[in-house]
Amino acid sequence: MVQFGVIAHGGAGSSEELTDGVKMAVETGFKILESGKDAIDAAMETVRVLEDDGRYNAGSGSLFRMDGKTIEMDAAIMTSAGSLGAVLAIRNVKNPVLVARAVCETPHVVLAGPGAGAFARRGGFRSFHGTSRKSRGGFLKTKEMAEEDRQERTNPGWKGMGAGKLSTDTVGAVALDMKGVFAVAVSTGGFSPMMVGRVGDTPLIGCGFYAGTFGGVAVTGLGEEIIRRMLAGHVYSRIETGMDVEAACTNGIHLFPDDVPVGIIALTRQGFSVCSNRGMAHYELLKEV
Ligand code: GLY
Repeated sequence: MVQFGVIAHGGAGSSEELTDGVKMAVETGFKILESGKDAIDAAMETVRVLEDDGRYNAGSGSLFRMDGKTIEMDAAIMTSAGSLGAVLAIRNVKNPVLVARAVCETPHVVLAGPGAGAFARRGGFRSFHGTSRKSRGGFLKTKEMAEEDRQERTNPGWKGMGAGKLSTDTVGAVALDMKGVFAVAVSTGGFSPMMVGRVGDTPLIGCGFYAGTFGGVAVTGLGEEIIRRMLAGHVYSRIETGMDVEAACTNGIHLFPDDVPVGIIALTRQGFSVCSNRGMAHYELLKEV
């Protein structure tokens, strides 16, 4: 049985070489849990470290939109104790996951676009313009591929592109604290190529994330396909009805054709699962009894 702990991933398509950053993030979250603090703080801090790393597609490493200059990010946080907050297409903040956490303290659960940005400014989050070399490189590569293959560019699915070929995807963490509360936190710079204003699965409850009494689920991959299958809710409902966590995640991955990159992490009191049809850097620290 898991007493407390945290698991995290660096996105569908992230190579093993990126495991060091996920390990550092998980160690940060685990220390928070060890000190008796809440799962929401552990999940949030784990994701904050990944947002600040710059190698993952979230926070400082977020990808450009198709105009080659705009960065819009999505993030969400949820606990089995009832906290819920998300930001959609937020610009000019360093840590969207911290803003999502702040949304949990308002009467709302979701803030979007300029309103989310204004809320962040009022809350003391300073304006930040993150354009890492990786973001620029990812954009130029996407542009090159699009120019080489116009047909794929005009295909609304863009299924063969994005994570796995060009970039990593969403980052996510699931934590269980000593009081038995589960928390999930997710953050992304989107999925390249993408239009300005596009929102993926990450900040949508039951699609990119879910936390309940039986566990927490965080998802990564091509948002448009994940939303259609409400993947996090699909996996959680199987766990809730007694399916083993590993089987529930495998079941979720099998909903997708091979050309759609997707990954899932899930944590329950009985154990955890990490599942992806691509490489996916991940790490976990669990105190078991
Ligand atoms: N999974 C991240 C996105 O599609 O935006």
